[in-house]
Amino acid sequence: MMHHHLIANFKMNLLDSEIRSYISKLSQSSVLRKKRPDHLHIGFAPSFPYLQSCRDQLTHTLAPLDLYAQNISEASQGAHTGEVSAQQILDCGARGSIIGHSERRSIYHETPETLVKKINILKHLKMRAIYCLGEETSDLSDRDLDYLLKDQVKILKDFPPTQLIVAYEPQWAIGTGRDAAPQHIHKVSTYIRQHLDTAFGSVEAAGIPILYGGSVNARNLSSILDLDHISGALVGSASLEFDHFNTLIELFIDANL
Ligand code: PGA
Repeated sequence: MMHHHLIANFKMNLLDSEIRSYISKLSQSSVLRKKRPDHLHIGFAPSFPYLQSCRDQLTHTLAPLDLYAQNISEASQGAHTGEVSAQQILDCGARGSIIGHSERRSIYHETPETLVKKINILKHLKMRAIYCLGEETSDLSDRDLDYLLKDQVKILKDFPPTQLIVAYEPQWAIGTGRDAAPQHIHKVSTYIRQHLDTAFGSVEAAGIPILYGGSVNARNLSSILDLDHISGALVGSASLEFDHFNTLIELFIDANL
């Protein structure tokens, strides 16, 4: 059974008291308390300083939510002032990390070489990678788009498929309110699925969820979840308000995935 994920990426937003109140509302939400199939997972990625308190709060409330970091260092430990290692986020309760988000690629100039180092560390620690990929602009030809995705998928080939979640996030749709059309998401996720088949073999690749991210909200989530190759969503802005994310959880659970 394919695993499906709805994951909130808080980015560099919310303070301790806001996150505590958010998790407390979430853990009491009737939507989350409803019995849901085991293959539907709901998670969120707060900033580093709040991972541990989120872990403690989730343990206390027994809320069935996955905790992720938004990034990890490319080094495993040592003299790297200001960095946070995968082992440290694991120690704080995260089961994995977002890797290669387009904001990290574009603002912090993360290269494929950097991403390979991060992926190898997660592999070694048996942690999940939510690997983001996608194009920067909306005007690429199909051929260039396919070539780019092939290149972005290639670096995953040695990563255990059972620890991998892929998130298709066109950069032009992130935080812009300009979501990609379902036909476009379908086309790109078909390319991604083919490249995953090539990298892992079709049997292993069949279990790797592909999420969509980029201006997901309560208006467009259901049509995105209807698409053949899409197994969930990575949500930024629309996850920051508890009520909005709670509606997304309801749509996700009711989608009969
Ligand atoms: P957005 O962000 O939903 O605000 O577009 C998505 C993301 O960056 O993961």
